[in-house]
Amino acid sequence: MKFFIDTANLSQIKEAQDLGVLDGVTTNPSLMAKEGITGNDNVLKHYVDICNIVTGDVSAEVLSTDFKGIIEEGEMLASLHKQIVVKVPMIKEGVKALKYFSNKGIKTNCTLVFSAGQALLAAKAGATYVSPFLGRLDDINLDGMDLIHQIVHIYRTYDFGTQVLAASIRSPLHIVKCAEAGADVATCPLSAILDLLKHPLTDIGLSKFLSDAKKFSDVVVK
Ligand code: E4P
Repeated sequence: MKFFIDTANLSQIKEAQDLGVLDGVTTNPSLMAKEGITGNDNVLKHYVDICNIVTGDVSAEVLSTDFKGIIEEGEMLASLHKQIVVKVPMIKEGVKALKYFSNKGIKTNCTLVFSAGQALLAAKAGATYVSPFLGRLDDINLDGMDLIHQIVHIYRTYDFGTQVLAASIRSPLHIVKCAEAGADVATCPLSAILDLLKHPLTDIGLSKFLSDAKKFSDVVVK
C-alpha cells in the first residue's frame, strides 16, 4: 500500500519524505487555506514546491464545477509539473471531465466519494484514483471502512485500473485497516503515520537493551 501525506504543509511533507516511506501528497482547498496560501500565483507555486520535495503523485484540486472550467483548470494544473494529478469532485460535470482527462492521458483523483455507486462511476470514467472519505463517514456514525471494502471488492471483481485512495484518515488504526482491506493508497496526516511507530513494549524493550548494553559496551549510550 502506498503512503500519501494529506497536507499542504511543506515542513510536514519534508519530514515524511525524510522518513523514506512517502509515495505522494494529497491537498485540497481547505488544506491550502490552512497554510495561509492565498492568490492564484502563490497556490500554483506551492504545488510546484510540493512536487520538488517528493518523487510521487501530488493531487491538486480544481475549483471549477462546470465541464469547461474543470477542463481548462485541470489542463493548467497538469502543465505545472509532471507529478500533478488533477483532483476532480464527484459531480456530473466532474465525471465527464474524468473521461476527458483519461482520454488525454492526464492523471486524475476523483474526490468527495461517499458511496460505492460513485466509485463505480469514477472507475468507468477512467479515474486514476478514487478517494473515498472514510473519516467523514465515521463522523456521521457510518462505518467508513465498509465503503473501502466494498470499493476494493468491486474494483477487483471487474479488474478496474482505478486505484483506491483511502482519504479522510484520522488514526493509525485507519491506516492498518485500509491495508487489510487492500486499499492501494492511504492518504494520512503526518501524525497518523508517526503514530504507527508507537508501541510501549518497543520503548520498554529498547530502554532495557540500552541499559544492559552499558554493562559491556564501550560505545557511549546516551
Ligand atoms: C484528501 O484527498 C481529502 O481531501 C482529505 O483526506 C479529507 O480529509 P478530512 O476529512 O480530514 O478533511
